[in-house]
Amino acid sequence: MLGLHLPEIQQHATPFYLYDLGLLRQTLATARAEAEKYGYHVHYALKANANAPILVEVLAHGFGADCVSGNEVQCALDAGFAPEHVVFAGVGKSDAEINLALDNNIFCFNCESSQELEVIHELAAAKGKVAQVALRINPNVDAYTHKHITTGLEENKFGINMWELEVLLPQLAQWTNIKLIGLHFHIGSQITDLRAFENLCARVNEIQQWFEDKGFTFPHLNVGGGLGVDYKHPDTNTIADFANYFAIFHKLLDKREGQQVHFELGRALVAACGTLISKVLYMKHGQKTNFVILDAGMTELMRPALYQAYHHIDNLTSTLPAKTYDVVGPICESTDSFSKAIQLPETKRGDLMAIRTAGAYGEVMANQYNLRNLVQAVYVN
Ligand code: LLP
Repeated sequence: MLGLHLPEIQQHATPFYLYDLGLLRQTLATARAEAEKYGYHVHYALKANANAPILVEVLAHGFGADCVSGNEVQCALDAGFAPEHVVFAGVGKSDAEINLALDNNIFCFNCESSQELEVIHELAAAKGKVAQVALRINPNVDAYTHKHITTGLEENKFGINMWELEVLLPQLAQWTNIKLIGLHFHIGSQITDLRAFENLCARVNEIQQWFEDKGFTFPHLNVGGGLGVDYKHPDTNTIADFANYFAIFHKLLDKREGQQVHFELGRALVAACGTLISKVLYMKHGQKTNFVILDAGMTELMRPALYQAYHHIDNLTSTLPAKTYDVVGPICESTDSFSKAIQLPETKRGDLMAIRTAGAYGEVMANQYNLRNLVQAVYVN
């Protein structure tokens, strides 16, 4: 189930992330095959998980890299991604980060404001270069997901709103050191209601037409990432619904002759292959509930505390009849809780727990609050 048997898991000090590279390869191969049906290009969003062994597999399966900081750009290049397969997004790119990307001749900056365009122009001019850019447009499309991971509504900080373009477009001609090559969109993450992508397609079609009416054509369209995964059934639905996802864009997106369509998937590629393994430190009877206190907490996996995210939990050691528990971490915060009132086999100190579907936005968001050690990783083939 996790790519490793219990006696092998028991040999490692907890807590640790366990990555099943076999499952990762299956997922990547499926995504690649489905994207290739339509000639689509997929950039892997490094922010989901930038561990070197993961990037080795992503690169080997022919994906590009979607980066959101200078360090991610550097990490992608160090991992062997070709500069022409690297895109760089983010609302707050610093001058140093832009210069790093310019020096390495990355494929495209996904620009999020007119001031950023001006700065990229100036920094590129100083180097005698021309930077390729795509305008990240805020399409005002709801992703039907958690509000903290919604990015494509006008109230969000991301992208350029349509009403800003009337002022922005006439300025473009003077920014001679940027070359506009595309439009970019990303409406949110953990999208499981695929109608959100249908709505995105309709909106991208309108926006593309709007630009064309003003004389702008684009060789590239980037529709972002966001495909969700099934956190409830980690053993059955291990591979995300890539077939239906890409088919929606093929059916509904008005792709122009010769135009390249790009995607930026993160979670759907790496979530399932990662599990956080933790040991039960203590059992404690609360006023209303029984607590299972783990040696992993929000410092190792922040998603439940930040987004009330659900991660399925298995007790790997007990086969006793089930009881109801609240599973919590050791951190001095009441939000440091993985799950409330869940059924688990009767649990005792020393049992090993598997917190599933944690390969995306798990280890990358780990931190050292309470001066804890940074969580370690174990890889199985
Ligand atoms: N492209 C852009 C511009 C993005 O901002 C993101 C994610 C992606 C692509 C990849 O999205 P994905 O395919 O992974 O959904 N920490 C949160 C998720 C934040 C996502 C941020 N942006 C979580 O744990 O759910």
